[in-house]
Amino acid sequence: MQIISTIAQLRAWRKQAGTVAFVPTMGNLHAGHMALVHEAKKHADKVVVSIFVNPIQFGQGEDFEQYPRTLEQDAEKLQQAGADVIFAPSVQEMYPHGAQQYFVEPPPLQNELCGRTRPGHFRGVATVVTKLFNIVQPNVACFGKKDYQQLAVLTAMVQDLNMDIRIIPVATERASSGLALSSRNGYLSAEELQQSAQLYQQLQAIAADIIQGRRDFDVLEQTATAALNQLGWRVDYIEIRQANTLQKAQCTDQEIVILAAAVLGRTRLIDNLEVNLSH
Ligand code: PAF
Repeated sequence: MQIISTIAQLRAWRKQAGTVAFVPTMGNLHAGHMALVHEAKKHADKVVVSIFVNPIQFGQGEDFEQYPRTLEQDAEKLQQAGADVIFAPSVQEMYPHGAQQYFVEPPPLQNELCGRTRPGHFRGVATVVTKLFNIVQPNVACFGKKDYQQLAVLTAMVQDLNMDIRIIPVATERASSGLALSSRNGYLSAEELQQSAQLYQQLQAIAADIIQGRRDFDVLEQTATAALNQLGWRVDYIEIRQANTLQKAQCTDQEIVILAAAVLGRTRLIDNLEVNLSH
């Protein structure tokens, strides 16, 4: 496995690489990322994993500085998982003019759900992923369903901008408690970790109610929000949406996703659960 930090070297490697599956990450890798690498290996001759903590997707007061940078441990894990290349550029390599001058502007979905409290976040994600796609030139790219809105934005971006890249969604990896694996779980105290599965439990409770036939989505959202707030969380949103479009779910929809973001202590966690009523 090679670790490459410049765009020029990556481009030189790419010329002789055959088909490439790409896993973009911000590092601090866990089993969720490894699942992306294992999936990637099924789809191409070579697997490239990027590790880049992208400043332009973090807002003021968010955790850009604090975000864990663990390249050495990440490299060991990726070597074991059978990745071929780590692309780990510096901020200067990715943004040589300091500020990015051209952006990929996602449609209004970028301002909903996580976008309501993270203005500019999805623009930063879409822009860096486009830059990484232009550098790595992958045939396929794997993204986790845990970041469901990100996956939706990027899937639509690839279609709308006619990028010849297949996006492969990969199921969320969970701890035995049900907590979705995330690099940000490392911010949780031992006590918060004990409590953290409550978010997923609320999603499961809503899913069970929907499967039982309830369609009063507003009430389900409000009840789960109140329950989590009562348990000491600060709920950002819990919303029931159409799985494919992320538009508000209608009572006749068959493919639904319940999405949530909530703050526990000082850590903002996100999660989601798909419900398919057609089978
Ligand atoms: O999901 C992430 O880790 C990041 O948003 C991504 C896709 C690597 C872009 O920086």
